[in-house]
Amino acid sequence: MWAGRFAKALDSKADDFNSSIRFDCKMYKQDILGSVAHAQMLAAQGILSEADCEQIVNGLCGILEDLEKGALAFDMDCEDIHMFVEAELTGRIGDAGKRLHTARSRNDQVAVDVRMYLRDEAEEITLLLKQLVTDIVDQAEMNKAVILPGYTHLQRAQPITFGHHLMAYAMMFLRDLGRLRDAAARMNYSPLGSCALAGTTYPTNRRMAAEKLGFDGITLNSIDGVSDRDFCIEFMSAFSLIMMHLSRLSEEIILWSSWEFRYVELDDSYTTGSSIMPQKKNSDMAELVRGKTGRVYGDLMTLLTLMKGLPLAYNKDMQEDKEALFDSIETVKMCLDIFAPMIRTMRVKADNMYRAAQEGFINATDLADYLTRKGMPFRSAYKIVGQIVAECIARSCVLDNLAMEEYRKYTDLFEEDLYHEIALETCVSKRVSEGGTSVASVEAQIDFVRKELQA
Ligand code: ARG
Repeated sequence: MWAGRFAKALDSKADDFNSSIRFDCKMYKQDILGSVAHAQMLAAQGILSEADCEQIVNGLCGILEDLEKGALAFDMDCEDIHMFVEAELTGRIGDAGKRLHTARSRNDQVAVDVRMYLRDEAEEITLLLKQLVTDIVDQAEMNKAVILPGYTHLQRAQPITFGHHLMAYAMMFLRDLGRLRDAAARMNYSPLGSCALAGTTYPTNRRMAAEKLGFDGITLNSIDGVSDRDFCIEFMSAFSLIMMHLSRLSEEIILWSSWEFRYVELDDSYTTGSSIMPQKKNSDMAELVRGKTGRVYGDLMTLLTLMKGLPLAYNKDMQEDKEALFDSIETVKMCLDIFAPMIRTMRVKADNMYRAAQEGFINATDLADYLTRKGMPFRSAYKIVGQIVAECIARSCVLDNLAMEEYRKYTDLFEEDLYHEIALETCVSKRVSEGGTSVASVEAQIDFVRKELQA
């Protein structure tokens, strides 16, 4: 390509080292569509003849078609996808192909390709994430009255419903959807026409090309247009948060599936056995999602570190953005795709959840609230209930079956109705504060998320 300036060819190992076609061939479609729009803009502006433009567009469409049906293979001797498409085009149509790169550089070309690629992939990720939220909400609906212990510090804390717990994740993933949407809107400005860095002397119309490619406008500084990858980093941050949420849910699913908890059972089709221990049923999918989270964080770190010391404008370092970006995209897609059906087919063991809820004094707050309602200051009530819990532990009983005469040794504010007030069902149904665990509140949350999904 640059034979004019050079007397010798690139060393073959240096050539391999320098080349990116192995991975940037993924963007062939975006590269070709970008070139079609560029050629049409050049023709409309009188920079390229209509005849050349027609040849170029037909040639590019032919290449796209052949690549899609497998009739054309990438030439791994080309440095990158941009060089490959241009060389293939010139091979097919001759001189007109050599005119395509007028008023353009690979620097703005790659910047536009990556944006378009990420735009398409983000749409897919959005659909997968919506499916997951739908499945979570459906499970929440089915389990909106199933009582289990809620935990803090992984110690049994207060009774909640499984629907309420699942809806917490629905809310997190809903914000993740919002982050994808925000990042997509901020990214959707075309850098095409920034050229190498300084713009061009040709009378181009950047906005025309941008519109053809579905952008909302153009980047307004040509140096910025070719230099930043903040949009990749924003998406990868959003992917990292999705993975963080998936990983926390994975951790819980792994715990819940353990013999110690036995709160849920994953479907056989999403678990594996052991090669030696016949009894085993392992939550490999959830463990892998938890593990792959580190990988997506690593990809994000790669890009942040890659970009931090680069002087403006383009530097070849930036070629390193793609493998990390593609890896994070593939990983998030894979994880979401496996997670949704795993949640959908998960069996909830409501009896075990209820049994656990009966054992950990998780109605102690409600007992203190009972005394408070009868006029005792909360701090005093808190202290008495602490003493009663200690007594129950010593007697191996729970608050629900401690006899009335024992209660009345502490204060005569205790009456028969306390047993009803500390029943798990009461504890749950009385938590009607907005966002709380009562069935009505969980139903409102479900309604909200379903409406958001449709919007
Ligand atoms: N393969 C390059 C990349 O991915 C394309 C841009 C190359 N530009 C250049 N001036 N070397 O970043």
